[in-house]
Order: sequence, then structure tokens, then C-alpha cells
Amino acid sequence: MAGIDYSERIPNNVSLHENRRLQRALEDWQPKFLEWWQDMGPLGFQAKETYLRTAVSVDAKGWAQFDYVRMPEYRWGIFLAEPEPVRQVNFGDHKGQPAWQDVPGEYRGTLRRLIVTQGDTEPASVEQQQHLGRTCPSLYDLRNIFQVNVEEGRHLWAMVYLLDAHFGRDGREESEALLQRRSGDADKPRILGAFNEKTPDWLSFFMFCFFTDRDGKYQLASLAESGFDPLSRTCRFMLTEEAHHMFVGEAGIMRIVQRACELMREHKTDDLRKHGGIDLPTIQRYLNFHCSVSLDLFGSEISTNAANFYTLGLKGRFEETKKTDDHLLKQATYSVAELDGERIVTREEPALVSLNERLRDDYVADCARGVARWNEVIRKHGIDFELTLPHRAFHRAIGSFGEVRVSPDGRIIGQAEWDARHRDWLPTEDDKEYIQSLMRPVVEPGRFASWIAPPARGVNGLPVDFEYVRLA
Ligand SMILES: [Fe+2]
Ligand SMILES: [Fe+2]
Repeated sequence: MAGIDYSERIPNNVSLHENRRLQRALEDWQPKFLEWWQDMGPLGFQAKETYLRTAVSVDAKGWAQFDYVRMPEYRWGIFLAEPEPVRQVNFGDHKGQPAWQDVPGEYRGTLRRLIVTQGDTEPASVEQQQHLGRTCPSLYDLRNIFQVNVEEGRHLWAMVYLLDAHFGRDGREESEALLQRRSGDADKPRILGAFNEKTPDWLSFFMFCFFTDRDGKYQLASLAESGFDPLSRTCRFMLTEEAHHMFVGEAGIMRIVQRACELMREHKTDDLRKHGGIDLPTIQRYLNFHCSVSLDLFGSEISTNAANFYTLGLKGRFEETKKTDDHLLKQATYSVAELDGERIVTREEPALVSLNERLRDDYVADCARGVARWNEVIRKHGIDFELTLPHRAFHRAIGSFGEVRVSPDGRIIGQAEWDARHRDWLPTEDDKEYIQSLMRPVVEPGRFASWIAPPARGVNGLPVDFEYVRLA
């Protein structure tokens, strides 16, 4: 097959031109990826030129090149962060040994599963967001969602590269399967729950970017500590892109909050629905939902899998190398929130089996910083309202709290109270209908939907009213 000029069409820093076997694997996979993209990527905009950022190398100049591109022609590249000289395994039983450049045979299955689970989330989110372009609140936002989408596509490439380069035939089969599962499909769903939820509107999209992409950040950051060096380097580069996705989420919600505050002051009312805004209690209910399903992604509080991943040197803690303990954790303990009859208590548990909960703690602290910035906007408008993260036990499906009803402030409650009050805590049918009614496309450059404030600045130093997507 005379096909693909790899340095051109697949920008890469993995010397693809020198590796014939890998070339053939990717040559076989690329058309299937493009077919998936045409089928499941942004509906209705494949032929439109969008002002996108493309990474063509990992250095400061190359990782963010901006230009108009049609999405199917986006150059999905394969990039690993620059190698650290003499990198070692930094934790677990192999601590101090040279980092692995090849998959250690005995950990093959475990490592493959970790990579596939991460990889599966990347196309899933593109599928979840497939319809949103048609109801964009502005061209600026339309461009941002497409940026997120093509980068999730690139993250899929990143994981497929690892599978194809390091896992032989099994890896190639997994690469195919990543294109066959579908978000929300009853027969072949995506692997993790939150990635089978619908993202039916832009409020949900921004919440998804804030909460669910942030789970991605914490998973990638722990995999970036891996003793398997190619995985570490791949994840380190992905994190630079992930930061933008969380910016889209945080700034998006902030603009909705700002608009709500402006409308409240202008009309001297909390009832924004007749003024085309999204009221703060509705924002809180969406926040509660997206936070709780994202908390589930970290898995059970007590997990022997998590302990194994760590002991084997495959998945570390967030900022592992900045921590000053022994990086073995065999004697250490960690406080974990648990259910004790009718109460939630904290207990000291062995640190190794508590690693999921520890990562969840890092995540919650990060989420709280974003929520504080939203509250700052509300405070500046002189409005007496505070958005809050729900208690970690609220609305959970996985782990110690999966079987009990818990209020957002962390009280164990009975079914009766849940039935009476869950409409105050989670998006109602009414909320969803109202939000859906706001989803009307606004595509004139510089104009914004009634429910969201314009951003403070445009993309890459361009004005807010720049034509970020050429629809004509
Ligand atoms: Fe991603
Ligand atoms: Fe992302």
C-alpha cells in the first residue's frame, strides 16, 4: 500500500519511518479510525474549516500550531514527551531499577488493561458530544468543542500507538475494539459508566469537561509516573492537552454563572427562566450530577487492584516523585471515608489498598479550587449564593456508598427523604427540558447565546468575534 507520508500525515516523534511493523499496523488502523471519525465525530461539520491547534512536535513552538483545518484532515500525531535521562521505576517493588522500555512480560495483561481502559474514554467522549455542534452558543465555543474532540481523537491515537508498538497481536485487536464500542450502546458500551452517560446540552458539556476530563487528568498523571517509560512519556504529553479541556469546562461554567449574576441584577429576580438565563440552583444540580458520576470513575475506596498496580510499578500516585515517603507504602496508612451503619466515618486503612481514595482526594481538592473561582464571580456581583461540591458519598454507584442514599451535605438518609428531595439535588426533567429549550445555535461571529457571557479573550490572541469556524 503506497499510502501515507508518516511525518506529514502523522506527525510523530517516535521514528515511525524506521519501524515497518508499526507502520503497517497503523496503516491498517488509520482508515478505520477515519471511518469511525466520520461516523461518530462532530455531526454536520466535517467539511467546515475550523481554527484549530495542532501539535506537530513536543517542543514549545511545535505543540501548538494554529490554522484552519477540516476536521477529517486534522493531523492526529503521536507524541511522547522527551525522555528523562536514566529514568528509574520510582515506586513499588521495582523501585530503583531502570524504567522499562519494553513491557515486562509478567505484567503484560495488567498493563494492557490499564491502557485500554484509559484509551476507551477518549473516543467515548467524542461520541457523547457528537450532536452538540448543532446547538453551539457561539462560534468561539463551537471551535473549542471541536478542539477538544480532535484532541480526544489524538489521545486515542496515543493509546493505540502503545498497543500497536508494544502488545503485538493482542494490542492490534484491542486497537480495533476501541473503535467498535460505542458510548451508551446496550450491546457494546464503553468500559466506564460516566462515558456511557449522555451529554445532551452545553451545560452538561462544560460540566463534563470540568469534572470528567479532570478525572482524566488524575488518571493520566498517575500513569505518567509508570515504570513503563513509553506510557509515562505518552501521558505526560497528553496532560498538556488535557489542561485545555479543563479550561474549556471551568471557563464555560464561569461564563454561565456570570451571565446568571448579570441577569439576576438586571431583573432583580432569582427566576431567570423567563429571561433566558440558567439560574444558580439549576447549575448546582448539574454540578452535583457530574461531580458524583466522575467520583465513581476513581473506583472503590478499598482496592487490591490499585495496590497491585502500585506495587508492580505500573501506576503511581499523583505527583509520586514529589512525595518524600518510602514510595513502597507497605507500612503506611491512609484515612478513608467509610460507611459505619448509619454514619459516615473516617478510618485509617493500609495505604496501598487506599490508593483510589487518595487519588480521589487529590481530585476533590482540585475541583474545589475551580468551584471557589466560580463563587468569586458570584461574590463580586454581591449575590448571596454559594456553589458547593456535593459530599463524596452523594449519588454514588461504585464503592462503599453505592448502596446507600446520601444527601449532598453527607447525611445518610432513607428512601423516603431521597424520594421527597432528590429533585432539589439532581437535574429534574423540568431542568433538562428548560436547558434543552435554550439550545439554539448562535453562529454569527462575536454573538453569544442569552445564557452565557462572552469569554474575556479569544483564542491564540485573536479577537472574540473572529470567525473561528467558517460555516459559509
Ligand atoms: Fe483525553
Ligand atoms: Fe480531555
